[in-house]
Amino acid sequence: MSKLGLNVDHVATLRQARYRDTTHGLTPEPSVLTAALLAEKAGAHGITVHLREDRRHIQDADVALLRRTIKTNLNLEMAVTPEMVRHALKTQPDEVCLVPENRAEVTTEGGLDVKRSLARIKKAILPLKKAGILVSAFIAPDPDQIQAAADIGADYIELHTGTFANATTKRAQLTELKRHVRGEALAKRLGLKVNAGHGLHYTNVQVYLKALPEVDTLNIGHSIISRAVFVGLDKAVREMLALIK
Ligand code: PXP
Repeated sequence: MSKLGLNVDHVATLRQARYRDTTHGLTPEPSVLTAALLAEKAGAHGITVHLREDRRHIQDADVALLRRTIKTNLNLEMAVTPEMVRHALKTQPDEVCLVPENRAEVTTEGGLDVKRSLARIKKAILPLKKAGILVSAFIAPDPDQIQAAADIGADYIELHTGTFANATTKRAQLTELKRHVRGEALAKRLGLKVNAGHGLHYTNVQVYLKALPEVDTLNIGHSIISRAVFVGLDKAVREMLALIK
């Protein structure tokens, strides 16, 4: 069975909407840590956070607290910058997922262009690998990018499922799924483990898994946190896990 990594960024988005500056002395809510602990209790296999350069949702203190407290896998999504590499070395997540970052975007829009910055990324991640932190690269299912991820010494790729999720016709969805199936096969031949994420939700996750049943971990955030508003996080996580099973 594929694993579920819950992305809790949007719990922090809600908190920051009210508590961007905490001068009023109230306890900021909702708590990212409580969300992570509830998700673990419901059976999530890991917690994912994206510490963005602009700190729009997850804050440095969130990552430190999660690191000290959660028992499952901590996956830190980060841009490939010296600041973020230093941060990862300090907080020691189990895994980092390298993502592109653009200040103006609402969410991570495209995959990382590993091929274009191969030498720079390879050098940047060396200290992370030496520290025993697993490295993943969030990329499109493009053979050149998959090869580049293998060339930098990544342990995982995370296939960007945004185009699949946004497909408006069955045909477009199928075309994209075929790219993912080919991408997964190539990645495995190159010794990479394969995760997937972005835009997955309760109605498309089984379509994806039917085509790629051996994906290691699905990193899902927005749809689960949205459902949790109505049914609670415990139920929202359990429902997604049941679909994955
Ligand atoms: N994986 C990566 C690399 C992401 O950047 C995101 C979005 O933060 C996700 C997974 C989760 O995407 P969603 O919130 O659409 O489920």
